[in-house]
Amino acid sequence: MMNRKINAAVFPVAGLGSRFLPATKATPKEMLPIVDKPLIQYAVEEAVDAGIKKMIFVTGRNKRAIEDHFDTAYELEADLALKEKHELLDIAQSVAPKGVEFVYVRQSTALGLGHAIFCAKPALSNEPFAVLLADDLIRSSIGAVQQLIVAADETARPIIGLEKIQPHQTRAYGVISIRETMGKHVVASNLVEKPKPEDAPSNLGVVGRYILPYEIFDVIAKLPTGSGGEIQLTDALAVLAQRDGVIGVLLEGQRFDCGSKLGFAQANIEYGMEHPEIGVDLKAYLKALAI
Ligand code: UTP
Repeated sequence: MMNRKINAAVFPVAGLGSRFLPATKATPKEMLPIVDKPLIQYAVEEAVDAGIKKMIFVTGRNKRAIEDHFDTAYELEADLALKEKHELLDIAQSVAPKGVEFVYVRQSTALGLGHAIFCAKPALSNEPFAVLLADDLIRSSIGAVQQLIVAADETARPIIGLEKIQPHQTRAYGVISIRETMGKHVVASNLVEKPKPEDAPSNLGVVGRYILPYEIFDVIAKLPTGSGGEIQLTDALAVLAQRDGVIGVLLEGQRFDCGSKLGFAQANIEYGMEHPEIGVDLKAYLKALAI
């Protein structure tokens, strides 16, 4: 079966990253490295692997490093070429794969994830698009966004990535109400942002991967401010869920919440253990440590 084509991905990167201060005072959270690669590059690679060719970043103040990262670095490349450091030159040049378009729009004030996505509207055409939150790093044999695109074959409805959560975690997630189960997917009839454990309608939390219909912009435009005084994507999805249902896909793979210090440290250890350059030594170090 042919996968429905998703041509564009939106990367909201205009948040303040306050949970990661002081590291994020002048550096974008999305540029924090897992071993040697910034979070945002993992997300872009996931989108490229899913066949997406247009990357739209919603940036804000202090986020210039992201634009620089995906630009050509002439001085660096000339220097590496001169010194015949071909492997490093290859790494520097492959950050922005050929044939992929990079577009930057601004969110002048961090008014929430729903608002950030709304800022991408002028860069999109009237068709479904993917959204990836780079601080949710997902390691899986089939990329998380590709798992959603496969589900998009079967439905015109919005699609969201899900994971099972524990009661003590509900405060950190959007949580769905389950209307029905359809094979490997569920249909959500509602979503609530960061509920108390006793108010959580299920144990399925939303993670940072979405396929959204263009119509979501009409919904976001009419939203009042929600949880935390922000325009919440969860609230827009709740409107669509109550209207026609939203499809939830329980993602395969391991997710690291790299917006939290613990998740970030865990990701560095796990990716480090698999890294071709340091993996063996890091494993030996951890074994010796055996705390
Ligand atoms: P988060 O809530 O995890 O990011 O938003 P944050 O607000 O930067 O982090 P904290 O809570 O202050 O530590 C998820 C994603 O949405 C983007 C963020 O950049 C992040 O990638 N975002 C959030 C925006 O682009 N704009 C916003 O107004 C809010």
